[in-house]
Parts: sequence; structure tokens; C-alpha cells
Amino acid sequence: NDVLGRTPRVLLIGYRGTGKSTVGRFLGSELGWDFFDADDTIEAAAGRTVAEIFAAEGEAGFRAREAAALEHLCAGRPRVIATGGGAILRPTNRAALRAAGYVAWLTAPPDVVWERLQSDPSTAARRPNLTTGGFAEVANLMAAREPLYRETAHAAFDAGVESPEAIAGRILAAW
Ligand code: S3P
Repeated sequence: NDVLGRTPRVLLIGYRGTGKSTVGRFLGSELGWDFFDADDTIEAAAGRTVAEIFAAEGEAGFRAREAAALEHLCAGRPRVIATGGGAILRPTNRAALRAAGYVAWLTAPPDVVWERLQSDPSTAARRPNLTTGGFAEVANLMAAREPLYRETAHAAFDAGVESPEAIAGRILAAW
């Protein structure tokens, strides 16, 4: 911990489309710390995109790769880490994230998330198992995961309205 008693890492959790990567990039540059997007780390290690991993290895294969990537990222020097929306599914991941630093949960209402996913060009390549069930699938998955985000987080931040920069500022103030 530093002189302010702050943990040496900031970890962003939350559903897809809540802005974890954008907020994480702002936090990293504010702090002068490296920023890691866990999905990028997984893709680099696999030599495949997330969508390709899901197609070739199934969700189970992806989750195993994700757990390995998180374990690696959580052990490194001071840094900011944006996790994938499902990073909180495994109890061991939840414990590792909480132990690694300050866990900030970005929240947004399902309709806002849905809108963002529709307009984000990376959705098709990056988010393989999402669009089939439409809005209802998103809303159901968010509701099912909510207790897991809640139990993993040190604090929750509403990311539905303000800019990513403003949200990063609120995280730094609360940490
Ligand atoms: C997932 C979210 C994605 C990615 C994968 C699975 C999920 O990350 O890890 O497609 O289960 O919610 P983002 O939250 O960065 O889109």
C-alpha cells in the first residue's frame, strides 16, 4: 500500500458495455500505471480473438484461459485492470480480484447497456454469446450476475450517465 493507504492495483468489474476499458485507460494515465484489458491479454496468449476461442474451445475453454490470465495480471506490479464481464463467475477469480486491489464495479441500467452494445462495432467480434437472446438475455444475465459483482466489489459506481473521465475521477476520489 502507498502512503495514502491505497492498494497497488485498481480492478474494474461490471457487465459488458459499462465502460470498463475506457475508464481503465483514464485511470492508468492519471496514475501513471500500466493499463491491462484482460480480454486483450487472453487474446494475445491464445493467438485468437475471444470470439474464435468461444467457437473453438467453448465457453469452458474461454473461462479457463480467463482464470489463468487474471491470476497472472493480479500478481503484477501496480496497474489498472479491466476484466471481462464474466470474470466474477468463478469463486477463485472473485477472491483473487478482491485480494489484488481496489475493485470498482461499474453499473448501468440494462437499456443503456443494450444501446451501447448495439452501437459498438467491436460487439460482433468480441462478444460471441450475447446477441442471440436480445435485450431479455442481457437483462437476465445482468440480474443473475449482480450478486456476484456486488460480493466482489469494494465499491459501486454508476456508469450510466457521466463520461468515462468523470467516472475515473470518482473512482480516484473514493479509493
Ligand atoms: C463476457 C464478456 C466479454 C468477454 C467475453 C465474455 C461475458 O468481456 O470476456 O465475451 O461473459 O460477459 P467485456 O465485458 O469486456 O465485453
